[in-house]
Amino acid sequence: MEPSLLPVEILEAQQDFPMALAACKDLDGLLRLKGAYIGREGSHAARLMELLKAAPKEQKRELGAAINALKNQWEETIKARQVELENAKKRAAALGNTWDPDLPAPMPAQGSLHPLNRLIDRLVDVFRPLGYHVEEGPEAETEAHNFDGLNIPVDHPARGSADTFYFEKHPGLLLRTHTSPVQVRTLLRLAPHIKEKGGIRFLAPGRVYRKDEIDPTHSPMFHQVEGMLVGHGVGMHHLKGTLAYAMKALFGPGADIRFRPSYFPFVEPGCEVDVRCPLCGGSGCRVCKQSGWVELLGAGLVHPNVLEYAGIDPGEWSGFAFGMGVERIAMMVSQTPDLRFFFENDQRFLKTMGGLD
Ligand code: PHE
Repeated sequence: MEPSLLPVEILEAQQDFPMALAACKDLDGLLRLKGAYIGREGSHAARLMELLKAAPKEQKRELGAAINALKNQWEETIKARQVELENAKKRAAALGNTWDPDLPAPMPAQGSLHPLNRLIDRLVDVFRPLGYHVEEGPEAETEAHNFDGLNIPVDHPARGSADTFYFEKHPGLLLRTHTSPVQVRTLLRLAPHIKEKGGIRFLAPGRVYRKDEIDPTHSPMFHQVEGMLVGHGVGMHHLKGTLAYAMKALFGPGADIRFRPSYFPFVEPGCEVDVRCPLCGGSGCRVCKQSGWVELLGAGLVHPNVLEYAGIDPGEWSGFAFGMGVERIAMMVSQTPDLRFFFENDQRFLKTMGGLD
């Protein structure tokens, strides 16, 4: 098209358009520009339409195409700019409500180990200098490891489906009810090397499961730390010395322990071990129910049948074993009255648990 077909004022407007557009910093300005360029009346576009009407017939086609192209270009560009400005306005409005340059920047939340895992780590650290390493076993365990290898009779109530979770579709498989099956697994695995090693000692922390109703001191899933030592001429005095050392390391030099006779099929003799209440020092408080002592764990000398099951000669070897409830210790140390706090993962609670470190 001949440029001369368009009047000078339009050519100037066309030339000015990019700059005029860039100068529109807000929607109001853009609307004014829109009115000036493509408004119904008095705009450059309206003027062009008048021009087209008045043009000689033979020019109409070419002029019409040129005018349309120009109008479309203005329209599209203005539209795009309008969207940009509207979005900017929305962003500014959203920011405007919260933006305060004096406020401290929000700190990203930092993850940390769960208090129960920290306590387990601490127990492992207490026993490591005594030569104990960590063993693991599966949570889905066989009846053989969970019961048979531990001298637990077939008619023992703990084997019943009222106490134990069995896998319906996998006979003989259950959720382990204690960490003691790791005794059986580890003895079986290490029995061929026991002579050259001169003995065995390890800890086995992990999850265990029992069909208990949930209440402040019971949960169908909880944690235990198992400990076992097998050697020559191992007696109750070794068990007592080891646990006394561990409890002092855990609760402080004033920690004291006492043994009460008890029964577990996989130890003989068996006992329960109490620690002098670490909170009141024995004078009596809510945690120890005024008795001055808190029950800590089950223990005893490894039953000869357990050694035999693993192929270890009980005439030559003897040992001790103990199993403690992690939640019980955590509740005591942290004075948490309800074990459910440990499983609900409420950050407000977990953050108060720094004291377990
Ligand atoms: N397994 C026993 C329990 O869960 C604890 C225990 C472990 C007792 C080792 C004696 C020896 O109650």
